[in-house]
Amino acid sequence: MENSLIDFPANSDERGSLIALEQFKNIPFEIKRVYYLFGTKHDKARGFHAHADLEQVLICVSGSCKVRVDNGKKKTEYELNKPNQGLFIGKYIWREMFEFSADCILLVLANNYFDENDYIRRYEDFQLEVSKFYTK
Ligand code: TYD
Repeated sequence: MENSLIDFPANSDERGSLIALEQFKNIPFEIKRVYYLFGTKHDKARGFHAHADLEQVLICVSGSCKVRVDNGKKKTEYELNKPNQGLFIGKYIWREMFEFSADCILLVLANNYFDENDYIRRYEDFQLEVSKFYTK
């Protein structure tokens, strides 16, 4: 599975809404790390990397942002603007996040701990490695 949107059913009533994220239930992996981006700027894009061995789900719990995902062959753009929707990003996917709204809080769930060695930060390296990954 490369990228897909996941809809999270909310427990909603007159008091508001609640969503629970549970590993192997509505999140398709073991959750080892949670981090969030905030104080982002509309004109400052982030990401520009892929991971060799990391899966993530991105959820815009407040505001909105756009995410461009690239599997080496095809680029797809998503707008995340609902706290009840997540974008799954698989291994060897180049991602760029941009056009953050002023109130954006982007929550990220990951299936592994932070490891700088897992990053592919040069697009040329990504193109080389992604082609090897898909011919395995
Ligand atoms: P980075 O992943 O490059 O951010 P983005 O993809 O949003 O542009 O991370 C920014 C910095 O934060 C970088 O120095 C690594 C550090 N970092 C951690 O220490 N732990 C983490 O879990 C993450 C995701 C990043």
